[in-house]
Amino acid sequence: MGLLDEKTCLVSGAGQGLGRSVALEMAAEGAAVVLLERNAATLASVAAEIETRGGTALAYELDVTDYDRYGAVVADVMAKCGHIDVLVNNAAINPPTRTILNDTLEDWRRTITINLEAVYMGSKLVAPHMVRQQDGRIIHIASIQGFAASGDCGPYNAAKGGIIAYTQSMAVELGRYNILVNAVAPGFMVTPMSIVNGVDETTTPDFIEWYVTRRKIPLGRSGLPEDVSGTVIFLASDYCRYMTGQLLVVDGGLMSTF
Ligand SMILES: NC(=O)c1ccc[n+]([C@@H]2O[C@H](COP(=O)([O-])OP(=O)(O)OC[C@H]3O[C@@H](n4cnc5c(N)ncnc54)[C@H](O)[C@@H]3O)[C@@H](O)[C@H]2O)c1
Repeated sequence: MGLLDEKTCLVSGAGQGLGRSVALEMAAEGAAVVLLERNAATLASVAAEIETRGGTALAYELDVTDYDRYGAVVADVMAKCGHIDVLVNNAAINPPTRTILNDTLEDWRRTITINLEAVYMGSKLVAPHMVRQQDGRIIHIASIQGFAASGDCGPYNAAKGGIIAYTQSMAVELGRYNILVNAVAPGFMVTPMSIVNGVDETTTPDFIEWYVTRRKIPLGRSGLPEDVSGTVIFLASDYCRYMTGQLLVVDGGLMSTF
């Protein structure tokens, strides 16, 4: 018996990093996992990984900001699976750092569109099906940067803060249909996203000194995708059935220090 037997779970940005880990674990827990990813190569690789391990994957090459195609994908999944039980809004970008003094409106719009608007649209596309089912889970991947800033990532932080506020709004709107909406805020994770300008920011001497050696992260290390994906599995599973509108911070204790 898996925690997600017979469930159909959509994961955006499933080709690498946290999305890949969530997809693999969901499949291991018995779900049919729908992989939504704009990178065809990583999409195929994760689908193959799931199938090699005996799981079920449906792979769709999709840019989550292509809303016409996103709608067609949701319709196709409904036709094939008959239900959509979980949506994990995970896809995001974190462009090279800029400040309000040297970024552009175009920079702002690009990040807000992928990281916030597409979260709204993906949720909007699946919610009517969940309403009909009177059952569903929507899980947003936010970030600690949604409520605490190191600077230089304004649009990213604004999008993540927006997701946190919108989680509560959606939870209130959709609770009457038994749709639970929660969010996860990872701290520093070691994924391809942590490589900024060719350097893995979790391995620089400054990072190690401050966050690891001096224990700004009390657990003394950055997170791995597997450290975070279990929280997503919990939120998708029947162990979570009376919790909605919540933000679970998974950061090794970072936000508990000052
Ligand atoms: N890495 C971290 O330290 C960290 C910390 C806090 C929160 N997060 C959040 O966790 C989530 C996963 O991050 P990650 O570190 O695994 O990132 P990642 O860059 O390693 O992976 C993101 C995936 O999303 C896909 N993607 C991006 N834009 C897309 C689009 N428009 N359409 C479809 N797919 C798209 C990418 O191709 C990639 O496969 C993101 O929401 C991120 O903001 C990451």
